[in-house]
Amino acid sequence: ERGEARTADLSGLRVLVSAGGTREYLDPVRYLGNRSSGRQGVAIAQAAASRGAKVTLVAANIAVPVPAGVDVVRVETTAELYDAMLERSGASDAVVMAAAPADFRPATVATAKIKKDDAGTVPDITLVQNPDILRALVDERQDRRSPLIVGFAAETGDDTASVLDHARAKLARKGCDLLVVNDVSGGKAFDRPENEVVVLGDDGTATHVPLGAKLTIAHAIWDSIAQRVDKA
Ligand code: CTP
Ligand code: CA
Repeated sequence: ERGEARTADLSGLRVLVSAGGTREYLDPVRYLGNRSSGRQGVAIAQAAASRGAKVTLVAANIAVPVPAGVDVVRVETTAELYDAMLERSGASDAVVMAAAPADFRPATVATAKIKKDDAGTVPDITLVQNPDILRALVDERQDRRSPLIVGFAAETGDDTASVLDHARAKLARKGCDLLVVNDVSGGKAFDRPENEVVVLGDDGTATHVPLGAKLTIAHAIWDSIAQRVDKA
């Protein structure tokens, strides 16, 4: 296992990593959220820093500490995550979207706490779609090759398509360079110290990374990135 970096093979590289799950507020005290702890994304930031990269972590409500040597920008909502990522991607050599942005947010955020009444009335909550940050990062990229853009996908297989079929389609739809795929059939992967992934490349490659510590998985992902990124 590679808990420690062997070399500073990422030195000179500026990397931007997102981690955690966004919160979409209904009122000042309530939000729609998701179960992402940010562990895998934080491990990706930690692995890159230990290999000499200059790392900025955009952290959305992460449940774990920020590793030493990593600059952090804290955000809560998908809109804030969008701004934080788009602002910094142009000055990055690699961008890893490990965060779990909410797909939808309440159409309006009440400025005061929503109250219940004795009549049993329930509020109607209308949702609107959030912007797709990964697609925006790809669309805004000035140079087809830089920054290298990595997406994540948690997929389940179904009757019509396997996990990898769904993932290939997602990689094509998003237009990113690499997609790190998690098989979450049967509720796997949340709040576990270990993970198992397949790294898909837009060139058709598929690299299986066997079950291991999230930091070990993170190093394997950087191995795939390092092969493709320009270290000018
Ligand atoms: N992502 C993003 N912005 C969003 C939603 C997702 O940047 N609003 C990114 C995630 O960080 C991840 C990748 O897109 O890197 C895939 O996320 P996923 O939720 O699997 O993709 P979706 O397009 O939202 O598809 P689905 O309908 O399967 O949720
Ligand atoms: Ca989604």
